[in-house]
Amino acid sequence: MRSHYCGEVNETNLDQTVTLCGWVHRRRDHGGVIFIDLRDREGLVQVVFDPDTEETFATAERVRNEFVLQVSGRVRRRPEGTVNPDLATGQVEVLGLELNILNRAETPPFQIDEDDVQDETRMRYRYIDLRRPEMQERLRLRARITGQLRSYLDSNGFLDIETPLLTRSTPEGARDYLVPSRTHPGEFFALPQSPQLFKQLLMMGGMDRYYQIARCFRDEDLRADRQPEFTQVDIETAFLDEDTIMGLMEEMIRQLFERVIDVALPDPFPRMSYAEAMSRYGTDRPDLRIPLGLVDLGELMTGVDFKVFAGPANDPEGRVACLRVPGGGSLSRKEIDDYTAFVGKYGARGLAYIKVNEVQAGREGLQSPILKFLPDEVVSAIVERTGVVDGDLIFFGADRASVVNESLGALRVRLGHDRGMVEDAWRPLWVVGFPMFEKDSRSKRWMALHHPFTAPDSDDPRALEENPGGMLSRAYDMVLNGTELGGGSIRIHRSDLQQAVFRLLGISEEEAEEKFGFLLQALKYGCPPHGGIAFGLDRLVMLMSGASSIREVMAFPKTQTAGCPLTQAPSAVGTGQLIELGIHLRKPPPVDS
Ligand code: AMO
Ligand code: AMP
Repeated sequence: MRSHYCGEVNETNLDQTVTLCGWVHRRRDHGGVIFIDLRDREGLVQVVFDPDTEETFATAERVRNEFVLQVSGRVRRRPEGTVNPDLATGQVEVLGLELNILNRAETPPFQIDEDDVQDETRMRYRYIDLRRPEMQERLRLRARITGQLRSYLDSNGFLDIETPLLTRSTPEGARDYLVPSRTHPGEFFALPQSPQLFKQLLMMGGMDRYYQIARCFRDEDLRADRQPEFTQVDIETAFLDEDTIMGLMEEMIRQLFERVIDVALPDPFPRMSYAEAMSRYGTDRPDLRIPLGLVDLGELMTGVDFKVFAGPANDPEGRVACLRVPGGGSLSRKEIDDYTAFVGKYGARGLAYIKVNEVQAGREGLQSPILKFLPDEVVSAIVERTGVVDGDLIFFGADRASVVNESLGALRVRLGHDRGMVEDAWRPLWVVGFPMFEKDSRSKRWMALHHPFTAPDSDDPRALEENPGGMLSRAYDMVLNGTELGGGSIRIHRSDLQQAVFRLLGISEEEAEEKFGFLLQALKYGCPPHGGIAFGLDRLVMLMSGASSIREVMAFPKTQTAGCPLTQAPSAVGTGQLIELGIHLRKPPPVDS
């Protein structure tokens, strides 16, 4: 049907006859001549129809945007002055000799080169949206990325193995998507939040090195970098320690960046402890491109008269910290109010500040509504610790540690962007030394920071039970420019230790047996030490393509409310199907099909 892709026609084809297939990107009538920009996966080429070829010309006149055409014609050089240097085919055009309309198209809901099309519309007509060159490029990049990752893993002895989608709940901290079973009335499968338990069972099955480009399902609140259905590059190994695994994995990412987007990442990636990340950046996924950091002031504030600071400073779960903003002295009242509202979204009840007019002048050189509450020695300690210079500003956060971390952590990133302080670079790192557990502030129960199969830094269940809050885990996260790309750990490979962790998480023996009995049993039949990691493929492609959301790198993503405007899923089902499944809805379904 075709001899060339539209986007491939160039000067090497001069005087040749080519046959092209594609979509009408645009049609222009110019004084008796018709120009059609014909578009396919590889790009655009200009086709010219002149009235001399009467029948073809008449057909060309009927053509509209997004019609599907087959065109044969002769390649010729564009006349002087009409060359388009922005187009790969811009030196040439095709003189259309034969034209075959393969299919007509109704007027599309939006033009392919239109900006500002609503997300909902784009998703509803995704097959049109996908024709846009950006979408084509991103999905092509995605395919190259998975290809390169597969090639690395294949050549390092990893076996690509599939694991079930109809399974039991695999807890990764989100709600499950459930699938009712017809053959077991009243019972449900859960779609996997990750293949975690199966990949561990594969190690127990002697597969040694596994990977899978695996679909995962999590019913959680959606954000720009979260979708209910997403893809992991899921990996597990036996008999390797964390350093070896991290080495293999960062080499995989380095090769990927080098080969696919020609970027050299550092070797090795720097490592940072969770404690340091929280203290300096307020988050466990610091964006190292931004040269701003939090500074702790807690012990300076225990005795001050200002309750807003003294309260959290004296509370073991509180934190008082500040953030120096270079040149921030020029921020207006309104800008400061806006930042105060911004941190308010993270629960901060205020955003105290000090403007630094002249460091040398001491207290006189500072300007702030809270200065009067702070004694001289505290003021000079703040100046010294933050290293401020004339013209700077210092923001303060005082609250529960989690509120201070989240609000100042987010403010740091926001200020970095607002003030043009984001380095144009790729800054990967490993975050290590996570605590095993954190206390849920509401239920006061221990929660696993990663999943409950992560190994603690000690093999002794008693050590774990004596000091759960102080126990670190053998987990590692890979972070790139403020995004958590992947996370993994060495796993628990002993039944008694796994049971101890379940106990600490408040999972009773019966519940553990009911939910994870198969795992506890498998651990008793010769389980090798093992560990692995999973990368968020969508996030990786988003970062590498410069897209602003993972929706932009998925062919058929879901909306904020986890629906699909294209297929109208989810949808009601007929009573017949419900009866078969033994399901009775509290509210009768609106349709019967
Ligand atoms: P974790 O839950 O950290 O670990 O997931 C691994 C990576 O998957 C990506 N990710 C997501 N991407 C898009 N949408 C989502 N809703 C979403 N949730 C997670 C992130 C994340 O780093 N079984 C463990 C891995 C292991 O221990 O080996 C796991 O699933 O990039
Ligand atoms: P107030 O005494 O409530 O008027 O607060 C004095 C200053 O402290 C104002 O600039 C507030 O924005 C700020 N502030 C109040 N609560 C906090 C807090 N929890 N953390 C940081 N700053 C605060």
